[in-house]
Amino acid sequence: MADKRDLISIADLSADETRQVILRAQQMKAGDAGSVLKGKKFALLFEKPSLRTRVSFQVGIEELGGYSLYLSPQEVGLGGREPVRDVARVLSGYVDCIIARVYSHQHLEELARYASVPVINALSDWEHPCQAISDLLTITEHKNKLDGMKLAYIGDGNNIARSLCLGLPPVGVSFAIAAPEGYNLDKASLKSAQQLAFNQGSNVWAVTSPAEAVRDADVVYTDVWTSMGDEAESGTRLEAFQGYTVGAKLLAQAKPDALFMHDMPAHYGEEVEPGMFEHPQSVVYQQAHNRLHGQKALLEFIFSGR
Ligand code: NVA
Repeated sequence: MADKRDLISIADLSADETRQVILRAQQMKAGDAGSVLKGKKFALLFEKPSLRTRVSFQVGIEELGGYSLYLSPQEVGLGGREPVRDVARVLSGYVDCIIARVYSHQHLEELARYASVPVINALSDWEHPCQAISDLLTITEHKNKLDGMKLAYIGDGNNIARSLCLGLPPVGVSFAIAAPEGYNLDKASLKSAQQLAFNQGSNVWAVTSPAEAVRDADVVYTDVWTSMGDEAESGTRLEAFQGYTVGAKLLAQAKPDALFMHDMPAHYGEEVEPGMFEHPQSVVYQQAHNRLHGQKALLEFIFSGR
């Protein structure tokens, strides 16, 4: 596949392409799906557990006429049992696309470099672009637009935060992150997001105060303080993030119609108060369901005409 399209970072999509994928996701959700993946085979190579990503990809691929097979954490051994480049080259002879969830983002980049078929990031320690795409779909469904919106992310400057930070400003959504000292996003990611924002008239802020971040926000978003792979630091993180729990009081400091979002799974009582998923402003289950539609549109984008 000479002109293969990988999705390793959300920044691999231009603003126009992102808008196009969101629009198609809405149409597909409304019933216009088609069978663009007829005869296509997908390897789902997962080094970490998954509920939403795995199921939504498998179901979505099947709905579009394709076939997928799942390789569990025990079977993979990326960079251990086998060098990454060998896995990439071998799988490229069997399947039309590799969808990979990995610990190391470098492994994902290496997979993409050596695979002759498209590679899709199904979460790495650095980014989760598929989540950002479906989050944009959820925001669009509620607000009927993206341009001029503001999302406040409270918590760890992790994979989710980075994909939102890089993916939202180009389509007009301002992004504010509040994280404790030492846990905010890295300077390089913030700088590229600020550049993308500048070109689009949106903004990017990195602060330490949750109250400051949520001011005038249309969306309040959080994710776990201890991501998969960070478990050894969970005690230190639990202490560092005190005061960063998202609850009804903090949400009330955003716009009155602000949405509450979380990519799940949740650690209740840590980043989110118990009961918040049932809050009238919460859209978390719709957000989870939209993974299916966002990814179907993404797969169509990657495969149509190829
Ligand atoms: N930041 C979380 C996201 C899970 C979907 C993790 O990497 O574990």
